Amino acid sequence: MAVIFGASGDIGGAIAQRLAKAGWSLYLHYTHNQTKVDALQRDLATHYPKQDFVTVAYDFTQPSEATAFAAQLVGIDAVVFAQGQTYYHLFADSTAAELQALMQVHLLTPMLLLTSLQRTLARSGHGRIVFIGSVYGASGSAMEVGYSTVKGAQSAFVHAYAQEVASLGITVNVVAPGAVDTQMNAMFDPETLAAVKEEIPAARLAQPADVSYYVNMLMQVDASYLTGQTLYVTGGWLA
Ligand SMILES: NC(=O)c1ccc[n+]([C@@H]2O[C@H](COP(=O)([O-])OP(=O)(O)OC[C@H]3O[C@@H](n4cnc5c(N)ncnc54)[C@H](OP(=O)(O)O)[C@@H]3O)[C@@H](O)[C@H]2O)c1
Repeated sequence: MAVIFGASGDIGGAIAQRLAKAGWSLYLHYTHNQTKVDALQRDLATHYPKQDFVTVAYDFTQPSEATAFAAQLVGIDAVVFAQGQTYYHLFADSTAAELQALMQVHLLTPMLLLTSLQRTLARSGHGRIVFIGSVYGASGSAMEVGYSTVKGAQSAFVHAYAQEVASLGITVNVVAPGAVDTQMNAMFDPETLAAVKEEIPAARLAQPADVSYYVNMLMQVDASYLTGQTLYVTGGWLA
């Protein structure tokens, strides 16, 4: 059983589709968008009737609830962190509430969840943890300084934590996209998105399936010797 945090999002949904096709049973996490995750659950249950698909709700801005939430997840062999949010403005205009939310959603709550889930992840001898990071964690980005900071911290965490759990057979990696065609980028007008596209050597934004491909690769039992890494899936952009 795998848990996909942010399964109600565009990238998380694509990961759910890809992992279900590969035979995984899944916990599908959401925060606000129950309608979308319910539709995903019904779709997967129809196509893969021998697998289990269970929806679970949890707001990562409530880190004190992480241990209790993790306790309801049974038989976890793999964890994918595909939840996330950003704010687009100058750093000097950031509020404490925004910076706190970025740190909780991308970093603190995932770390707390893993302290609870490590024991069950170790059981199979091939536990898997994948974060959806960002190339901004390495390159940085004006207007998204707080977001770039927590994305870089995800990679730093993975680099260190992978060394602690390698002997348990658990791999820990980041898949770090560039610009992906999802609702997270819906705030940008078509001209801005066209300008970004021009900068990308592959000449297009990523589709969520471009990201889920590498997540599925890292989830495989044979993918046991790659850990502590950040894979930049950017079409050659900024990497
Ligand atoms: N789109 C891009 O260009 C891009 C590029 C690089 C990296 N990424 C990263 O990829 C991941 C997925 O992004 P996406 O583009 O798929 O975005 P998305 O479609 O907006 O999905 C965001 C997901 O995060 C969940 N979420 C939001 N606030 C949350 C909270 N407080 N607690 C827990 N979960 C919360 C959402 O749940 P609900 O909808 O149910 O509230 C949703 O499932 C993020 O980590 C993002 O930083 C995206």
